[in-house]
Amino acid sequence: MLFSPKPFRIVKKEAQTTDICLFKLERPRGEKEKLCYDPGEFFQVSVPGVGEAPFSVCSCSHDFIEFNIRGVGSVSNKLLELEPGSYMWLRGPYGNGYPMKDLIGNNLVIIGGGTGVAPLRGVLKYVEKHRADYEKVHVFFGFKRPEEILFKKDMEVWNRIFDLHLTVDKAPKDYKGRVGLVTKIVEESGLNNKNKAVMICGPPIMIKFTIMTLEKLGFNHDQIFVSFERRMKCGVGMCGHCMISGLYVCKDGPVFRYDKVKGVHE
Ligand SMILES: Cc1cc2nc3c(=O)[nH]c(=O)nc-3n(C[C@H](O)[C@H](O)[C@H](O)COP(=O)(O)OP(=O)(O)OC[C@H]3O[C@@H](n4cnc5c(N)ncnc54)[C@H](O)[C@@H]3O)c2cc1C
Ligand code: FES
Repeated sequence: MLFSPKPFRIVKKEAQTTDICLFKLERPRGEKEKLCYDPGEFFQVSVPGVGEAPFSVCSCSHDFIEFNIRGVGSVSNKLLELEPGSYMWLRGPYGNGYPMKDLIGNNLVIIGGGTGVAPLRGVLKYVEKHRADYEKVHVFFGFKRPEEILFKKDMEVWNRIFDLHLTVDKAPKDYKGRVGLVTKIVEESGLNNKNKAVMICGPPIMIKFTIMTLEKLGFNHDQIFVSFERRMKCGVGMCGHCMISGLYVCKDGPVFRYDKVKGVHE
């Protein structure tokens, strides 16, 4: 783990939408230790002189890290200005991610909305590498509009190797894909809860309605893992900025088993 920020060189930058880019950063040259991070964990990413913000890893590699960054404010917009060859400063990884090793042998149900799909991309990249460890993988991703769909190249691969369901809330008449809320396609899937673990990441309202849908399908709260986003400062349980109901989102989460946090999500 890096306790103080280290520079990571950007080797690739790919526009995903008008305000979102996928960045690939290489392991610092001369750094002998391999990178170690798990899906669902995050790094504090900084721009000297501007500030620092948490971003989830959305890759699975010992040699590089990828971040999917949306420009919403001072740090994130400054990061979006960076081009390959320049550097981001990283400390981490921090937090508890998805318990991938504990879930070996399970069927996985992955449900994401909007930029919440980013950490779940990390999960799917992990499963691609450890495919024999898991049974069926059902993926449900929802975006507002077709032009907001993220990771289109990955979606083509996941469509072949996983049971992928992709939907958008609204689309022009000639759109060929699925239209409707992600909760609707989860409900229509008729999934049962047998030997399954569910991982959800997305806006709080989407998490709330997805859990209600899963309850209708018979899922128990201890089968569901949710990822929370909170304003953070230190990222390591020192400042109390991210606290909700006695839990540090940075240190105890950001991924929680739902039976442990039921009632604290908005
Ligand atoms: C664990 C974790 C993982 C994250 N992963 C990603 C990721 O993979 N990709 C990504 O694009 N973003 C991610 N975020 C959100 C990201 O950290 C914020 O967008 C970032 O902090 C914004 O900083 P800023 O300085 O650019 O914006 P600021 O200038 O601080 O704020 C600009 C605006 O954004 C709002 N805002 C800022 N941060 C948040 C937040 N966390 N929740 C709600 N509103 C906020 C502010 O209220 C304000 O309106 C993650 C956050 C957390 C806690
Ligand atoms: S961000 Fe400081 S305690 Fe969590």
